[in-house]
Amino acid sequence: MRSIVVLISGRGSNMVALAQALRDERWPAAIVGVIADRPQAGGLERAAALGLPGSVVDFRGYARREHFEHALREAIDALAPDLIVLAGFMRVLGAPFVEHYRGRLLNIHPSLLPAFPGLATHRRALQAGVAVHGATVHFVGVEVDDGPIVAQAAVPVRADDDEQTLAARVLAAEHRLYPMAVRWFVEGRLRVAGGRVVLLDPRPGEARWLWNDVQ
Ligand code: GRF
Repeated sequence: MRSIVVLISGRGSNMVALAQALRDERWPAAIVGVIADRPQAGGLERAAALGLPGSVVDFRGYARREHFEHALREAIDALAPDLIVLAGFMRVLGAPFVEHYRGRLLNIHPSLLPAFPGLATHRRALQAGVAVHGATVHFVGVEVDDGPIVAQAAVPVRADDDEQTLAARVLAAEHRLYPMAVRWFVEGRLRVAGGRVVLLDPRPGEARWLWNDVQ
């Protein structure tokens, strides 16, 4: 049984999607903790409703990023997880933290990386006039929104989209994509070679990309 810690800052919908996939698909993994960087993260209530243990390491209680990350590491390591899943965790993590968890730290970013790293991805995608947008699950590297790409979900950009409609379409794709990628990790089917991810033993119909043409 693999153990997973999920880090959140906000509403936690990806955390919920992962918890539901774990419950419905019965893969050999469990979420052993949900840690938020702020007490008002809405995902904490959703975690509690799912019976998942939640806790807070409040970033505002630390004058320096290193001190916050030290406390966060202690909270994570106390749970001895095999995998740490960043799910809307809104803090940039320093190199020592990333190195400590290298190879077992996943993030989801709401764009088709390397396009649109950083914030306001949906607005920037609309401004750029792209026809396809999406989300990326990647191993966390030391640069922001960088690191070996595990899987990507693409969605169409429609002529009448605004930031909200596009964000909703991407989020629905994220809720399919992240559980799929985490499952591959849990099953030991991800290898990183030369900065690129290989999916071992792909099953029929399985691919490192999804097309989510809904909403
Ligand atoms: C998602 O769009 C994710 O890609 C980004 O932050 C958002 C988190 O949403 N990193 P939620 O908290 O999982 O609902």
